[in-house]
Amino acid sequence: MSRIISVALQKGGVGKTTCTINLAGALAGHYGLNTLLIDFDGQTNATSTLLGRHYESRGDIWTVLYSGASIEETMLQAPQHPKLFVLPGSPELAYWEKKLSEEQWDALVREGRRILRERAPEGIDVILIDTPPSLGLWLQIAIAASDGVVLVVQPHEYSADGIRDLMRTVHAVQEKVNPDLVIDGLIVNGVRPTTGEHAAWVEEYRKQFGAAVLEPPLLERIVFAEAQRLKTPIEFYAGRGAAEVRGWFRQIAGELVERTGVAADTAADATHVADRSEDQGDSDAAPAPSRGARTPHQEHASVA
Ligand SMILES: Nc1ncnc2c1ncn2[C@@H]1O[C@H](COP(=O)(O)OP(=O)(O)OP(=O)(O)O)[C@@H](O)[C@H]1O
Ligand SMILES: [Mg+2]
Repeated sequence: MSRIISVALQKGGVGKTTCTINLAGALAGHYGLNTLLIDFDGQTNATSTLLGRHYESRGDIWTVLYSGASIEETMLQAPQHPKLFVLPGSPELAYWEKKLSEEQWDALVREGRRILRERAPEGIDVILIDTPPSLGLWLQIAIAASDGVVLVVQPHEYSADGIRDLMRTVHAVQEKVNPDLVIDGLIVNGVRPTTGEHAAWVEEYRKQFGAAVLEPPLLERIVFAEAQRLKTPIEFYAGRGAAEVRGWFRQIAGELVERTGVAADTAADATHVADRSEDQGDSDAAPAPSRGARTPHQEHASVA
């Protein structure tokens, strides 16, 4: 079965969608894993970045949850790579989150978990869920359905506060429906290398969360906006500065593959192929994850 990973922080604009898209690009393009990105945000930013605004729709996350559509028949292959798939987001999510009362949430979280896990398509190695900037119903369904959560934080106080609030929701979901949920890691995004304050926050996160911090921290780079405008994960973008950022995401994706044990055989084999065929001389490329170096779930939970 696929490993399902939610990328989350309820604070807006910290880089959840950016990280989800670029991790998905690295997992599919560099590690050769069949990767499905589920867009669980009513803003549908991940969908429009990967598929554009005028794609031929076969439904979306809402039709899967609400009208029983199959994920396999609804998801679309992203144009950037044959192993990258998208289950589009839906503006309905934002509408319904306000309409549904909180008393209904517990039942919906259970049902959403059941639907997403039972209908995870065969042959998909990893599912990444891009979540909305809220602790509400859709985030809860996403993490209820997940094996792990990756937090995305920025180097400042508000993100640190956000971690505490998100962890309360994670614990509540663990207690109610998903006791096996773990923290797969924490990405520090948007770091200005020349700003002492940012460097201090990176060190603070490393001190507090240890090995849960996924290295390296992502620096502020204009290539993020360029790739977004050109509607591609940086894995498939050849512009100036892309190789550096591609290397960061390969390293983080490789670490995730290693610590979660996701389809380790496929990933390690595909890595050999990717190393031979791609980016010859790209010194920024991350080292391949070594097979069997750690057991799944090791080094988890230090955020908890
Ligand atoms: N490391 C970075 N360097 C430069 N720009 C970045 C970086 N990370 C993200 N951005 C930019 O910041 C903006 C917000 O990022 P993104 O949409 O990924 O955040 P988000 O957490 O998904 O937001 P929301 O909470 O609204 O869903 C985007 O325009 C993105 O291109
Ligand atoms: Mg987003």
